[in-house]
Amino acid sequence: MNSFDQVTLVDHPVVSRDLTILRNRNTPSPDFRSALNRIAIILAYNSLKGLPLRKVEVETPIQKTDGYELDTGIVVVSILRAGLGLVDAVTRFIPEAKIGHLGMYRDETTHQPVDYYSKIPQNIQNDHVLLVDPMLATGGSATDSVSFLKSKGAQNIRFMCLISAPEGIQRLRQTHPDVSIITAAVDECLNDDAFIVPGLGDAGDRIFGTV
Ligand code: PRP
Repeated sequence: MNSFDQVTLVDHPVVSRDLTILRNRNTPSPDFRSALNRIAIILAYNSLKGLPLRKVEVETPIQKTDGYELDTGIVVVSILRAGLGLVDAVTRFIPEAKIGHLGMYRDETTHQPVDYYSKIPQNIQNDHVLLVDPMLATGGSATDSVSFLKSKGAQNIRFMCLISAPEGIQRLRQTHPDVSIITAAVDECLNDDAFIVPGLGDAGDRIFGTV
């Protein structure tokens, strides 16, 4: 794994193999979802590193010893629709996580995010918030989502995505330098339609079979 300037590029053979399945235009939705689920678990594992712990005592069948509990609440926030494909991986590690949803789509002409729904758990000031969306393209959706979460009091926010464009990383980092990014790939650039190149197309359409 390489960490540079709060951007973590997750490097793993399974990720490389599954990214190739996801990029392949001939991969059908069921296989796309399976590969995404596998990568999401590795991304979630990396996104949850360094969380604060508190020491507790635990009694094994043999004797008492030191153990740990998470010393923070965890909130997963999915940017609809495609972010839904990453939530289960996080709750596998953190079953008690609260889950928020932000409905946002990108206007096809302006490429600007348009928000249409939000439901976020209350009192998230002291929690660690993991914002999830497979794609970071222009960065508009992620940047607006972070601004919204901050307006609700969130102070510890991480962004987990599958594929990012340099343009999106730059925009999110410039507007919210405190937000670390965990991604499985940094691609080349955006095309004229603001799609990530080479990317994998529209993640939401491919997850949900709405192509
Ligand atoms: C895609 C993607 C991100 C956003 C990324 O969603 O899932 O939310 O675009 O683009 P940006 O970084 O330029 O904002 P889309 O608008 O296709 O909506 P969907 O998830 O409902 O398909």
